Amino acid sequence: MMTQPAHQTSRLLFGAMGLGGTWTDEPYGESDIDQAEAAITASVEAGITVFDHADIYRRGKSEAVFGEVLRRKPALMNGVTVQTKCGIVLPAGDRDGYYDLSAGSVVAALEGSLRRLQVDSVDVLLLHRPDPLLNPRTLKPAVHSLLQEGKIKALGVSNMSAAQMDYLQTELDIPIAVNQLEMSLSKRDWVESTVLVNHPTGAATDFPHGTIEWCRRNGTRLQAWGALAQGLYSQARETHTPADAHATDLVRQLAQERNTSAEAIVLAWLLKHPARIEAVIGSTNPERIRASSDAPRQAELMTTSEWYALWTAARGAPLP
Ligand SMILES: NC(=O)c1ccc[n+]([C@@H]2O[C@H](COP(=O)([O-])OP(=O)(O)OC[C@H]3O[C@@H](n4cnc5c(N)ncnc54)[C@H](OP(=O)(O)O)[C@@H]3O)[C@@H](O)[C@H]2O)c1
Repeated sequence: MMTQPAHQTSRLLFGAMGLGGTWTDEPYGESDIDQAEAAITASVEAGITVFDHADIYRRGKSEAVFGEVLRRKPALMNGVTVQTKCGIVLPAGDRDGYYDLSAGSVVAALEGSLRRLQVDSVDVLLLHRPDPLLNPRTLKPAVHSLLQEGKIKALGVSNMSAAQMDYLQTELDIPIAVNQLEMSLSKRDWVESTVLVNHPTGAATDFPHGTIEWCRRNGTRLQAWGALAQGLYSQARETHTPADAHATDLVRQLAQERNTSAEAIVLAWLLKHPARIEAVIGSTNPERIRASSDAPRQAELMTTSEWYALWTAARGAPLP
């Protein structure tokens, strides 16, 4: 475990949100561990060795079943690295959910994750969502202690804008290794915003300008969650619009021409972007995990005109 260098740059990550059974407090069972083992095995065999967790996934059970698989099959985990997230407090009973990035909460959440994952450290600890009550000055000593103790190798964020990262990095005085954002052929605001500058329709795009550029300039790795678009273009759900249907047809046609899967084409569209986006794959289905693993190769093969054709098909309108 943890034999690879810190914050390695694999282009595909396994997103563990689907592991661990239900989102309720009902305990996980043997079948949930079996399911996790099958998915993790398929992932490692396909060369996807970075695992993305969060303390909240399935109320801690995603991390717990991962830890159980690690105990069952320690050899499987050679060369595997793990990242996790903290800062979201799920609703409980009558209480709504909220965010908590106070120092005590971050440290306690990480300790819980390490215990459930059955590891001594994680590659990256990501702050899951911006917490308006976050005080970076009080968080700073806690993060520095976690780094010094070797419990985390780097700090990352998720769902944060350039301005938020800039401020956080200045106050914490450490680089931000990762920003994880929802980005896919379906969730395109991050790329739409770059071509709609000075265009009337640009006002409708609320993605915070400069976020992608900030990450590229500062060496902050971009990770895409929802990268498979929940199967929208690979037949997981009914296509709802003519644009979805058109993009689905084009994905299927390219997959056929290149003798690959629809999943690999959908992911390749993200990976071709020069920001070297890393795609977090949320499937727990071994077949779909294997089907996804061809994405980096397909990104190399995808031509510029194919990339734009997929984009314009999905947006349902030509570029300005
Ligand atoms: N940072 C954040 O705020 C944040 C938020 C959400 C998620 N995440 C991370 O990102 C990962 C991926 O996110 P995601 O799960 O929302 O998105 P995703 O990878 O786009 O979608 C995965 C889901 O879509 C289903 N799916 C995909 N292709 C399919 C197909 N062809 N047919 C049937 N079902 C298909 C999968 O079911 P099967 O399992 O049956 O394949 C799974 O439920 C998560 O695991 C988590 O690690 C991060």
